[in-house]
Amino acid sequence: MAIIRIRTAPDPILRQKARKVKFFDNALKKLIEDMRETMHAAPGVGLAAPQVGVPLRVIVIGVPEEEDIVLVNPQIMRKTGERTVNEGCLSIPGYIGEIKRALSVTVKALDRNGREIRIKGEELLAQALEHEIDHLNGVLYIDHLESPSKLRKVEPEEAGAEAAITLES
Ligand code: NI
Repeated sequence: MAIIRIRTAPDPILRQKARKVKFFDNALKKLIEDMRETMHAAPGVGLAAPQVGVPLRVIVIGVPEEEDIVLVNPQIMRKTGERTVNEGCLSIPGYIGEIKRALSVTVKALDRNGREIRIKGEELLAQALEHEIDHLNGVLYIDHLESPSKLRKVEPEEAGAEAAITLES
């Protein structure tokens, strides 16, 4: 496994639409393991392949007290409710923004072996699912800000502390 450098804005790869995965081979499995290691080292609760320079539809999520979730070619099937959250992104270091996210999100995807899976997430997991799937479409959380005043600069220590309770991916 290896830790990969995380791309930060305005790297153009963060604005590209990622391609669907077609081959469930060893290269994909290595990418997934490297992404998991990179996410935990950051630390963050999620990571999308474009953030490590690979324009493929692969995300990993590691929220506290849950096993890591690996989703290939994920699609949001259903979203319900709405809540206001503070959100950060490893690709936009030093900032936190206040945006709205769904309360509950249902996603259909493939696992690392190409088998279909469905996952339903609430609260932090729902937020992470929406945030990471956005990355696959070239969308960043700052695109959801109602106004620039909803974005604030944070000290690195504060960003680290918030990562545990909000989203830093
Ligand atoms: Ni992010």
